[in-house]
Amino acid sequence: MTSGPLLLLLLLLVLPGSEAACPSVCLCLSDTVSCSSSGLAKLPASLPSFSVTLDLSHNYLSWLFPASFKRMPRLENLRMAHNQLGALAEGVFRNASGLRRLDLSSNRLRAVERHYFQGLWRLEELLLFNNKIAQVEGGTLSGLSSLKKAYFSVNQITDFPFFSIRDHSHPFLSMLDLSSNRMSRLPWEDVKALPGLVQRGLYLHNNSLVCDCAMYSVFWHWDLRGYDSLRDFADEHTCSVRGSPRSSIRFLRHSRFFRNCTVKKPVSLPVTVLLSHVTVTEGQRVRLDCQTSLAGAGGGGGGKLSFAWLSPGKGRLARDANDTLISLFANGTLEIGATEVNDSGLYVCTAADAKRALNATREVNVTVLPPPPEAFNTGYTTLLGCAVTTVAVLAYLYMTPCRCGCCKQPRPPPAVPIATYDPSTLTPVFSASVREHQKIHTSKHVAFMEPRRREEAAGWAPES
Ligand SMILES: *[C@@H]1O[C@H](CO)[C@@H](O)[C@H](O)[C@H]1NC(C)=O
Ligand SMILES: *[C@@H]1O[C@H](CO)[C@@H](O)[C@H](O)[C@H]1NC(C)=O
Ligand SMILES: *[C@@H]1O[C@H](CO)[C@@H](O)[C@H](O)[C@H]1NC(C)=O
Ligand SMILES: *[C@@H]1O[C@H](CO)[C@@H](O)[C@H](O)[C@H]1NC(C)=O
Ligand SMILES: *[C@@H]1O[C@H](CO)[C@@H](O)[C@H](O)[C@H]1NC(C)=O
Ligand SMILES: *[C@@H]1O[C@H](CO)[C@@H](O)[C@H](O)[C@H]1NC(C)=O
Ligand SMILES: *[C@@H]1O[C@H](CO)[C@@H](O)[C@H](O)[C@H]1NC(C)=O
Ligand SMILES: *[C@@H]1O[C@H](CO)[C@@H](O)[C@H](O)[C@H]1NC(C)=O
Repeated sequence: MTSGPLLLLLLLLVLPGSEAACPSVCLCLSDTVSCSSSGLAKLPASLPSFSVTLDLSHNYLSWLFPASFKRMPRLENLRMAHNQLGALAEGVFRNASGLRRLDLSSNRLRAVERHYFQGLWRLEELLLFNNKIAQVEGGTLSGLSSLKKAYFSVNQITDFPFFSIRDHSHPFLSMLDLSSNRMSRLPWEDVKALPGLVQRGLYLHNNSLVCDCAMYSVFWHWDLRGYDSLRDFADEHTCSVRGSPRSSIRFLRHSRFFRNCTVKKPVSLPVTVLLSHVTVTEGQRVRLDCQTSLAGAGGGGGGKLSFAWLSPGKGRLARDANDTLISLFANGTLEIGATEVNDSGLYVCTAADAKRALNATREVNVTVLPPPPEAFNTGYTTLLGCAVTTVAVLAYLYMTPCRCGCCKQPRPPPAVPIATYDPSTLTPVFSASVREHQKIHTSKHVAFMEPRRREEAAGWAPES
């Protein structure tokens, strides 16, 4: 029965022998072959067929033959940065369809032709920065349906085929770096039609953009949504007035140049409704927080929020209302002093950020239960309860004395139930029991608040 392991051992010994040996200028370690900085002017004649990673960076490669990597069926990472490739022949990557990461940065590519990456449907990362690319042909990215990140920065690109990127064609694309190129006028309608994920990860700073309203409108909306690309590179977003490179302005900082532009206000941008539920007994105080997506989204440019509540019984409740029973705090929290059964119903809070023209609403369903009938004589009922328990315990344990701890227990101070933003209320799966739920409420609230403060602090730090 030892033939099994023996066979395996034989296989292990035989298989490496069957693949090409490690070229003398390279270093081979498990499934990685590194031939970087080896002075190579052409590919080594034979490369180990089992390698997953092949590093050819920092060499003098200027030409690759068609199907150069066809004998490497497991190849996933191919690094060819810092070479002298000026163009790629048709079918260089034929039979290399397992590639996931392709690094062609810091070469001399002048264009990206549509045949370059044909068949690389598993490709996730494409690095083409720091070349001399002036043109990206229309179909270049089609077929790269697994693409997640593409880097085209520091080139000489004047046009980019934005139209070829759509939800169904590139569902995972979340980073498209086109910064430091030479695009002056972009097809903004195509840009606006890009999938949301791509827009969020689109980097366009340090181009030679020409100031106009179409351009400004797009960046204005992205700024509003707090995209990292704008926050991290606010000063590198420049445009030139009337195309003159000398009159370049940082348009995210100096919006007054665009006074005359009519920026279409987002009519229904993030209007998030977070439903939640609170149940109290009549007479209790209740606090309803107005935590909405506006308060939660860091975003940077968040302005001052104003709040208004719509109550089922009393209608609109604003900050200036003078009601002793209901008070509205500056932070949007609504407090009902002593609830009555007829206070039950749906309370809707609207948080409005006038500066960013955003609204968000939050709904809380308040149920006020009538007091339990025996509650009028709590002391008596507890005493009775204790006596009954005592009798039962005595009957069971004979002489166990009743310390009557339960009799003396003071009525707990009326805790104020607080309805906070709690995502778990939206997914009943997580709400095991009401009691647990209320405990979670308090801690959830803290957890929710703290990152927000940190984010705000981080957002403001660079400006000071
Ligand atoms: C390369 O791919 C073609 C089909 O595209 C196939 O016919 C051929 O056998 C493959 N060659 C190798 C060496 O895998
Ligand atoms: C802007 O782009 C040019 C090339 O187009 C580059 O040389 C320069 O370093 C870039 N500047 C910044 C701040 O990225
Ligand atoms: C805006 O329009 C006014 C007149 O309508 C004009 O005087 C002003 O120069 C314009 N501002 C800019 C920045 O174009
Ligand atoms: C709710 O009930 C109280 C009496 O319990 C009454 O005074 C009050 O007007 C009622 N409010 C509404 C909105 O019906
Ligand atoms: C609000 O109520 C207080 C008394 O509770 C009263 O002095 C004050 O004038 C009222 N303000 C308005 C605007 O009604
Ligand atoms: C809002 O302010 C009230 C009173 O200062 C406070 O009790 C409540 O916890 C605050 N709510 C939030 C969400 O900060
Ligand atoms: C936002 O709220 C303000 C004030 O409550 C209201 O005037 C405006 O119409 C609201 N806008 C939207 C888009 O709901
Ligand atoms: C609020 O909660 C009560 C009791 O659970 C329920 O009957 C009612 O339909 C809810 N209302 C809304 C608008 O969800």
